[in-house]
Amino acid sequence: MPLSVVVLAAGQGKRMKSDLPKVLQPLAGRPLLGHVLAAAAELAPDAVHVVYGHGGEQVRAAFAGALVQWALQAEQHGTGHAVMQAMPAIPDDHTVLVLYGDVPLIRAATLRALLERAGGDALALLSVMLDDPAGYGRVLRDNAGNVYRIVEQKDATRREQAVREANTGILAAPAGALRRWLAALRNDNAQGEYYLTDVVTMAVKDGLRVEAVVSPTVAEVLGVNDKLQLAQLEAEHRRLRATELMLAGVTLADPARIDVRGSVEHGRDVYLDANVLLEGAVRLGHRVRIGPNVVLRDCEVGDDTVIHPNCVLEKSAVGRGCSVGPFARLRPGNRVADGAHIGNFVELKNTELGAGSKANHLSYLGDSVIGSKVNVGAGTITCNYDGANKYRTTIEDGAFIGSGTMLVAPVTVGQEATIGAGSTITKDAPAGKLTLERSKQLTIDGWKRPVKAPK
Ligand code: UD1
Ligand code: CA
Repeated sequence: MPLSVVVLAAGQGKRMKSDLPKVLQPLAGRPLLGHVLAAAAELAPDAVHVVYGHGGEQVRAAFAGALVQWALQAEQHGTGHAVMQAMPAIPDDHTVLVLYGDVPLIRAATLRALLERAGGDALALLSVMLDDPAGYGRVLRDNAGNVYRIVEQKDATRREQAVREANTGILAAPAGALRRWLAALRNDNAQGEYYLTDVVTMAVKDGLRVEAVVSPTVAEVLGVNDKLQLAQLEAEHRRLRATELMLAGVTLADPARIDVRGSVEHGRDVYLDANVLLEGAVRLGHRVRIGPNVVLRDCEVGDDTVIHPNCVLEKSAVGRGCSVGPFARLRPGNRVADGAHIGNFVELKNTELGAGSKANHLSYLGDSVIGSKVNVGAGTITCNYDGANKYRTTIEDGAFIGSGTMLVAPVTVGQEATIGAGSTITKDAPAGKLTLERSKQLTIDGWKRPVKAPK
């Protein structure tokens, strides 16, 4: 059956005490709503509708590129009223799956299990067993175990409140029937709202099969209302991703001190030390070792490469058998070839560093093409920016750049050229020769150190 997903995201999220709408609050570096849309996309639905309200323009702008349809709920009169806003765009023969923009850890596998029970003549809702279900709607079953109603906490009797099976709010139902039920909702309840949950009683009355599928985990159905819950789900997400990595063969120094905020592809026998942060799309080859306090954002690291402690690498590709850091910074746009060494306090930006080349200490290499087997001495700087424009530096294979060299771009250092230490190179240095720029060293005979004047 065709599937339409409706994501409720109109809530204001007052308790966040933030100018950012609730569904844009980041979890693992991505808006809450982004997590939900990603889970929805895994189901390959025919359409995704997002019901938005407060802060709506900000929400729409944040997801401007997303393949979703937007339905405005200008005033919030309850979850049933919210779903109603999306219904005009949904054909009768679809199954409607209702999700929540503030329930970020929901897994596609759980939703698939739910959808298997829903369809033409069946309504399926996702429930969860809670030790303390206070605040949740309760799933009421008859003696035969059949679900006949969901009662909200505020409308529940004592007896009903003792039920531990809680409603997660997530449900799937046939669109045609859902449309009829929603139109018939009334708001004569404790909160004066149109409850989506009331469609359950209507489905039972219409003779549809109603099933409650119990969620396999609690975390995936938890909503976020304040910064405390946000941090709790962030921690849960961290645990889940660390567990995934370990089960896939990655060794973690401490699973409680690793953050995966994106996708990780990896080879065998990868080792990640404490406080490693992986963001965006990260690819790690076989036997890669990442030291403590390293940030990798959208990076690729080749087999057997070691990233030493305290490095920050962004949008860069590092080859095989390289050594980076400690304390190295790779800004976007670098390609570091196999066997290269980048040492402490070295910054690279938009630079190609050839195979086996070394920049071991205190350098800035920007907008550069550096060949293979080049030795970049300590304190070498590419002066790539004249205050208005940026220029390229080219260093050919086998060149040796003496320490403390300023390479004023645009400039080329030829193959096997040697640059004397302390030079400011403003013109191309020919291949195979020694080029240096240095004032003559003087020694002043008879010079005396100044002495302190008597007071
Ligand atoms: C709802 C369920 C309850 C369930 C609980 C799980 C109803 C009537 N009750 O209660 O059974 O146990 O979720 O958390 O459905 N929203 C809108 N527009 C509205 C109202 C809500 O978009 O007019 C969105 C909110 O942003 C939120 C979600 O729907 O993401 C749930 O709304 P909320 O008011 O928190 O529902 P609960 O009262 O907690
Ligand atoms: Ca409410």
